[in-house]
Amino acid sequence: MRRMKMMRNLSTGLILTTLSWFLMLSKAEPSTQADGVPLHPWTFASLQKNESVQPLQDSPSLFDTFTKSEVDTALKAVKNGKAAGADGILPEFLKNLGVKGIAILKPGKAANDASNYRPVSLLSTVYNNNWYLTLNPNKTVAIALHLNNREANRRLELKIGDTPVANSECTRYLGIKIDRALTLKDHIEAMKKKLKTRNNIIAKQTGTSWGSNAEVLRTSTLALVYSVAEYCVPVWSRSAYCKKIDIELNKSMRIISGTVRTTQTQWLPVLSNIIPPELRRLMKAYQEVTKVMNNPELPLYNDIISHPQKRLKSRHPIWDLTFPKESIPEVWKNHWKHSGVQNSTLITDPMMRVLGFNLPRHLWTALNRARTNQGRSKSLLYKWGMTNSPLCACGAEQTIQHIIEECPNTKFNGGIARLHKAEEDAVTWINNLEFRL
Ligand SMILES: *[C@@H]1O[C@H](CO)[C@@H](O)[C@H](O)[C@H]1NC(C)=O
Ligand SMILES: *[C@@H]1O[C@H](CO)[C@@H](O)[C@H](O)[C@H]1NC(C)=O
Ligand SMILES: *[C@@H]1O[C@H](CO)[C@@H](O)[C@H](O)[C@H]1NC(C)=O
Ligand SMILES: *[C@@H]1O[C@H](CO)[C@@H](O)[C@H](O)[C@H]1NC(C)=O
Repeated sequence: MRRMKMMRNLSTGLILTTLSWFLMLSKAEPSTQADGVPLHPWTFASLQKNESVQPLQDSPSLFDTFTKSEVDTALKAVKNGKAAGADGILPEFLKNLGVKGIAILKPGKAANDASNYRPVSLLSTVYNNNWYLTLNPNKTVAIALHLNNREANRRLELKIGDTPVANSECTRYLGIKIDRALTLKDHIEAMKKKLKTRNNIIAKQTGTSWGSNAEVLRTSTLALVYSVAEYCVPVWSRSAYCKKIDIELNKSMRIISGTVRTTQTQWLPVLSNIIPPELRRLMKAYQEVTKVMNNPELPLYNDIISHPQKRLKSRHPIWDLTFPKESIPEVWKNHWKHSGVQNSTLITDPMMRVLGFNLPRHLWTALNRARTNQGRSKSLLYKWGMTNSPLCACGAEQTIQHIIEECPNTKFNGGIARLHKAEEDAVTWINNLEFRL
């Protein structure tokens, strides 16, 4: 919400500059055509790279009034995926601009009068006649945001011209799904679904005999999964539904590290060498707040400095966040130290990549199962109902620790601590073991 508001406020000032570029382009076209030169769809990027094109600005004819068709042509000519101009506004953004408007009812006002709503969008700025951009009422939706649950099902009766504006339970704005109560539940659930399919793709690369090594899996996960899981994260990271995302991210990390379900979750970020999700989110929120605090001319600055009073206990606005004094790695180190996780003493600095990251999949998996003391030992298999007895061939209960440190048949010289170092003898030992950990 905050971010969007910032976008809107930013854009009101900046959109003019972008549009003037478009207009220059559309105006420049007829003259090139007159010279018999074929039309090339100019792009921002090519204009900006070539400084010798700058004198265009001096031509007074470019600042004449322009027609709707000229604006349309200029907008059409700009390809998607081009870099933003100096004002940071992407071409797609201008093309899709203002398709949806979100109206917020002012407190204590009647719901059936359009003037009682505060619009959260670019509608009011860009959709005026001078700019020849017309609003499509068919694609416009209205959503009522208010605190009163009894009014949850109220529908707004708004019209643009003669066309009634459709009501929506939950609408998308700049990629964020906004629901009536602003819990961001719908957004997070949609994101979770997306993460699930992406996790499945990553999991397809993990066969024990041919699977990718941890390095490849980690990179793919960061690119495929985390990019989705952290889109606009300062907006939704304080939602109560955020835990749903963690479930999927923990799954991704379980895939990278090759650990089993019973592994303590604190181990996952350490083994996959990715800062824990909640700390990454905190880091992003901190960056966002710092950026705003360094720019007092941003409208968002005042929203954070002199913020409104909190009305709902369940909400945690970004100005409520307290950022730790230490750096994020320090915070993680402290969490790890006091986590009481099994065998946590093996790791002194969780930021350091554990050894064996580039080993083949089956070795890497076995190492991590030894480190976390959770794996396919008889004791656990018995618990999962996959074998008849929890006992080792030697007669004792077969835990991972028993296999490595106690059992006379399989004992590894130096135990878990030495196996953790992933040296040559550790690799040989894992290869010679008759079963997989
Ligand atoms: C820049 O513009 C000049 C003059 O129009 C042209 O000769 C030159 O090739 C252009 N350079 C690039 C990199 O487009
Ligand atoms: C909106 O929908 C109506 C009926 O479906 C149609 O007649 C009208 O042309 C549409 N308007 C626009 C601007 O697409
Ligand atoms: C995911 O892992 C983190 C530790 O990295 C843990 O705090 C959190 O409870 C886990 N969430 C779920 C749903 O398992
Ligand atoms: C690993 O954990 C087991 C079980 O808690 C413990 O007995 C063992 O001493 C630990 N090993 C190391 C190296 O921390």
